Amino acid sequence: MSVTRILGFESSCDETGVALVEVSGRAAPRLVAQALHSQIAMHQAYGGVVPELASRDHVRRVLPLAREVLAQAGCTLADVDLVAYTQGPGLAGALLVGAGVAVSLAAALDVPALPIHHLEGHLLSPFLSADPPEFPFVALLVSGGHTQLMRVDDVGAYEILGETIDDAAGEAFDKSAKLLGLPYPGGPHLARMAEFGNPEAFDLPRPLLHSGKPDFSFAGLKTAVLTQVKKIGDSPCEQTKADLAASTQAAIVEVLVKKSLLALKATGLKRLVVAGGVGANAKLREQLNAVCAKRGVRVHYPELSLCTDNGAMIAMAAALRVQRGSAATRRDGGFEVRPRWELGAA
Ligand code: KG4
Ligand code: ZN
Repeated sequence: MSVTRILGFESSCDETGVALVEVSGRAAPRLVAQALHSQIAMHQAYGGVVPELASRDHVRRVLPLAREVLAQAGCTLADVDLVAYTQGPGLAGALLVGAGVAVSLAAALDVPALPIHHLEGHLLSPFLSADPPEFPFVALLVSGGHTQLMRVDDVGAYEILGETIDDAAGEAFDKSAKLLGLPYPGGPHLARMAEFGNPEAFDLPRPLLHSGKPDFSFAGLKTAVLTQVKKIGDSPCEQTKADLAASTQAAIVEVLVKKSLLALKATGLKRLVVAGGVGANAKLREQLNAVCAKRGVRVHYPELSLCTDNGAMIAMAAALRVQRGSAATRRDGGFEVRPRWELGAA
């Protein structure tokens, strides 16, 4: 059986990721090597991602990371059969770096290039775990920019069941964390602080909790956190801050869990896949595991290190498409990036 080696590039935001995945017949694709550079330390000084700095750093990192991946895999460029890259959504300049390098590399090697949707990468990232899901499933996609519940029947067969009407769950974590004086990106910092807090100390809103639909709204929560931050004053004690962090996390997690159950009930499916950066949240995992176990629902997560952006999920999405014969590859050296792009849209 011939092996197809896919080199994948991710550069949609503040992580440069490169990975090599091998696919052979119907066997599960295999992650051979990956390398990642996070720009978090660089953006921290500004309290958020600075797009121009992000693009410049991708330029600096992308080729050394590709070399590192090939060296780890014991391969050379001549072994690469296909080059995949994130086409969108994301920051236009950042996307252009990964796409430009990937398409140029493909042209130089005379192999096809394959654009991949960033959210499809997240959605299929649990296929990189030791316990991959089976189709169909409900997916809860919770990243810094997106919060969606989806019915997934196969690779490329996505139906959006509900999504946020304003902020994403990751944004709710990050904005609340910023109000608490925590560094960017606030989600993991807020989660750590919440470990020592009382989740019932502050009564925060659960927007749209009872809407009866799998939709979300997190903008009001951020405003409520701001009100509480003003109330507790300039120099609150660490315990009060931890209590507010725990209460914020509890509000976000409760909404995500309730809406996931709603989507499972509406579709009648018994499998849930959680993907995207917020999927790394321990409280979310604990509560989803508990309610799903009660209902006989299996929950799949990506490996913790693969919840946030990485090249492996892009190469894996490409591999699954190649396997199904649904890879819309290009060989003409042309490309476009799509900073705003709905999953499922043409
Ligand atoms: O998927 P991702 O890397 O980027 C996007 O595609 O947006 O997700 C990043 C988001 C950030 O908002 C970050 O704060 C959040 O995921 N995040 C977390 C945790 N780890 C990452 N939020 C809550 N708890 C965590 N442990
Ligand atoms: Zn992402």
